[in-house]
Order: sequence, then structure tokens, then C-alpha cells
Amino acid sequence: MLKTKDIIDEFDPRIRLVSKDVTFPLDDKTKKTIEDSIEMLRLSQIEEEAKKYDLRPGMGLSLIQLGIAKRIFVIVYEYEEGKFEIYTVINPKILSESEEKIYVEEGEGCLSINRPIEGIVPRSARINVEYYDIDGNKIEKRFREELAIVFQHEYDHLNGILFYDRIDKKNPYKFKDIYRAI
Ligand code: NI
Repeated sequence: MLKTKDIIDEFDPRIRLVSKDVTFPLDDKTKKTIEDSIEMLRLSQIEEEAKKYDLRPGMGLSLIQLGIAKRIFVIVYEYEEGKFEIYTVINPKILSESEEKIYVEEGEGCLSINRPIEGIVPRSARINVEYYDIDGNKIEKRFREELAIVFQHEYDHLNGILFYDRIDKKNPYKFKDIYRAI
């Protein structure tokens, strides 16, 4: 199983790599990494499991955060207590984005960033995307609100971008009253 120490942090230069598209079928090792990442994120959102395995709660993980520069990320979204929607996202494209911007009121988090960061990260409220699932099926989907934010956060990882890169350097709270907090 994956552990917190397997996740590279913001000071590891690999976090800034631009990940490469993958081809299908995926090899068994990559599939196992995807499964392990999903399991880690799921456990991280269950309080007693998180405590037991010393996991910080997270909803998304990109393979580059494990040092693997492939355009793959996973999202594990708890839509109801103890129930999770799981997305394996491979070679994604963002086809269109809403004009409306939103941000996470308490600030975004990232399993590769182990310090508090102040400021607003503007994200599109709705996005239309396409990607491939683990079996190579092409999926088209629209994400809204929290899931849209997680998708954009993970998508950024594939291009070596960290969430704080999107915070206004001079005035981190510049967009507080302009964009909508969620
Ligand atoms: Ni992150």
C-alpha cells in the first residue's frame, strides 16, 4: 500500500515535470499504481483509517506526485458518508471552461505541499473535459463545483503547476469578493 513517504513534495524537482501522454493498454505496474492511489485516497478520507495509516486527507493524486511522469490522475470523491465516486483520468483535455470562477474558501490543499499557504486560487466553476479511463475508453464529462476544482488542480500537476502558482503574488486575496467561494 502507498504511504505518505511515497509522495514527493514541492521541493522535489520532479514535481515540476510536464508529464507525458500514455498509450494503451496500460502495463500492470501502472494499473497497480492507479489502484494503490485510489485506495490510499479512499482510506485517507475515513478518519480512523487515516489515523491508523498516518494519511493526510486528499481527494486527488497525480502520478507525478509519486515521481511517475505519466498523464494520469485519480479522484476519489465522497458524495455521501462512506460512499465514493472514483475517477481514473488518463490523457485528459479541458475542452471548455465556464466564465464564472470560484475558489475554495478555506484554501486549496495538496498532498505534496506540507505547509499552510494563504490566498485564493481562482478556478472555473464548470468544465467540459475528455479523457480515457483505465481500459482506454474515451469519456466526455462535465464537472462542476468541487469536482471541477479537483480536476483542474490535478490537471495542473500534469503540467508541473502547483496551486500556489495561481495565487496573486502581490495581493493573495485580490479575488475574494469578485469570485464565488465554495
Ligand atoms: Ni496537489
